[in-house]
Amino acid sequence: MNHFISVSQLQEEEIFSLLRLAAHLRKENDQTFEKQFFAANLFFEPSTRTKMSFTVAQKKLGFDVLDFHADQSSAKKGESLYDTARTFQAIGANLLVIRHPEDNWMDELENISIPIINAGAGKEEHPTQCLLDLLTIYEEFGTFHGLNVSIVGDIKHSRVAHSHADALKRLGANVYFSAAPRFADRSIDVPYITIDEAVQISDVVMLLRIQHERHDHPLSVTTDYLQSYGLTKSREKQMKERAIILHPAPINRGVEIDTDLVECDRSRIFKQMENGVYMRMAIMIKLLQKWGIIHENFTQTCEDLNRVK
Ligand code: CP
Repeated sequence: MNHFISVSQLQEEEIFSLLRLAAHLRKENDQTFEKQFFAANLFFEPSTRTKMSFTVAQKKLGFDVLDFHADQSSAKKGESLYDTARTFQAIGANLLVIRHPEDNWMDELENISIPIINAGAGKEEHPTQCLLDLLTIYEEFGTFHGLNVSIVGDIKHSRVAHSHADALKRLGANVYFSAAPRFADRSIDVPYITIDEAVQISDVVMLLRIQHERHDHPLSVTTDYLQSYGLTKSREKQMKERAIILHPAPINRGVEIDTDLVECDRSRIFKQMENGVYMRMAIMIKLLQKWGIIHENFTQTCEDLNRVK
């Protein structure tokens, strides 16, 4: 057949021939073809950095990437997250990377039996962002102990703030929050300081954008916001000599940070993005090793093949 448009074009023998071939392929799959790894990135919220850096990381590791666009998927017909994930498992995905607006989306995926990576859960967790930021800080200072890290901005609606506060404290850093009163979240055990205090004492100042999409009521932000709560050029001059600026991005230039500071000498914002690729490679390797999907010596094999930087 040149094209396959309708079953009506097939003779009976052609149908049985296809049935036999498909059954054979399923049985002989591993022997017939080289082992392939399929990674599926299921993003139900917009993303540039996380989705694309996972894609780059997966391609560097030699995975086949199954792209997924929620708006063009059967989720639009009401398919649940579980049924979507179960479908990818059924068709041979070895790994799922998921971002979803619900805080606890992973609770419904208990019966999925392939590894899942959280690429963002509501306003609760963004663990891969946390680890890539830890890498960025560690590469700068060689330790977390005693570092003063201030997280500044819309703490209340930020999954980054939630993920980072706990991890940084566990690693020995002193964590501070700085926020406009309406963006504070007093349920997290972190002291609040003003932005002027933050720039003076901090080794790391991490800005967060206002997470409009998670607000119950739309908020109009005036130019006063930068002056009152953001990182202005005059505040940057108050920072310690070796202090650095981080931002998980996307950035709202001129709102939480002066646009001229985004790529200033202290900024490690694009370094964070670069580190995201390598941290996500590391996370996927560890997870797939744990599940026995790739061998313990996979990293060495990659290095041998010059596939890991
Ligand atoms: N930092 C981050 O999660 O960016 P994206 O929303 O673009 O993935």
